[in-house]
Amino acid sequence: MDKVLSVNSVVKYFHNPQDFQVLKGITFDVNKGEFISVVGKSGSGKSTLLYLLSTMDTDYEGTISVNGTNVTEMGQNQLAAFRNEHIGFVFQFHFLLPDFSVADNVMLPALKLGRYPKEVVYDKAVNLLKLLDVSGQEDKKASRLSGGQQQRVAIARALINDPSIIMADEPTGNLDSHSSIEIMNIFSNLHEQEKTVILVTHEPDIAEYAKRVITVRDGMIISDEIKEQ
Ligand SMILES: Nc1ncnc2c1ncn2[C@@H]1O[C@H](COP(=O)(O)OP(=O)(O)OP(=O)(O)O)[C@@H](O)[C@H]1O
Ligand SMILES: [Mg+2]
Repeated sequence: MDKVLSVNSVVKYFHNPQDFQVLKGITFDVNKGEFISVVGKSGSGKSTLLYLLSTMDTDYEGTISVNGTNVTEMGQNQLAAFRNEHIGFVFQFHFLLPDFSVADNVMLPALKLGRYPKEVVYDKAVNLLKLLDVSGQEDKKASRLSGGQQQRVAIARALINDPSIIMADEPTGNLDSHSSIEIMNIFSNLHEQEKTVILVTHEPDIAEYAKRVITVRDGMIISDEIKEQ
């Protein structure tokens, strides 16, 4: 099987207000197409770990490879381009640009990548928004949409460059239960399309959607289980 992620002996410290070891030797691999949830109590290190995996945080010991490339060695500029192409990230708070249109928000990572002309990117954005059930909102300011719609726009933005890995940190943390189910169905569909999905959550019913559950406690993986179908 193709390995999309390889994490070896990752250790991380925070130094403020005092030295604190938040991750204590994390090692695991992810194969293409897996749907993983990372669970554990508040403060166990889940978000910290996901930020390292996403290459947004580079201050750690150990090594991380994404799609066969050792990202630990990369410089910031190279890393930003690599991340934009390979990883789609969905935050708990959608982080859309509120005064930009929905379409502009979705298009941004693709225009940065510069692989396709703007018209092509626009069509792609409109298509993605349709797939995610937010059609007809393209020209509205992002701030005008409901919470569930905004999160779907954020997912469209994460998907615009066709990344092989989608990472999400508590993507339903701000949503009502109905919108949460809709968002989780989107992640399940992505998994069915053979995308690799890694989702951090502390909610057991959200973790249930995944096929493999990695449990973190005090900065260590204490269990890593593939669920029976
Ligand atoms: N920038 C930082 N500086 C210092 N300590 C931090 C920083 N960010 C996180 N921590 C600490 O690291 C630990 C892990 O935090 P992290 O955010 O990874 O937890 P989490 O498992 O995602 O929790 P939650 O479920 O509440 O989101 C916590 O004790 C937290 O206080
Ligand atoms: Mg967190």
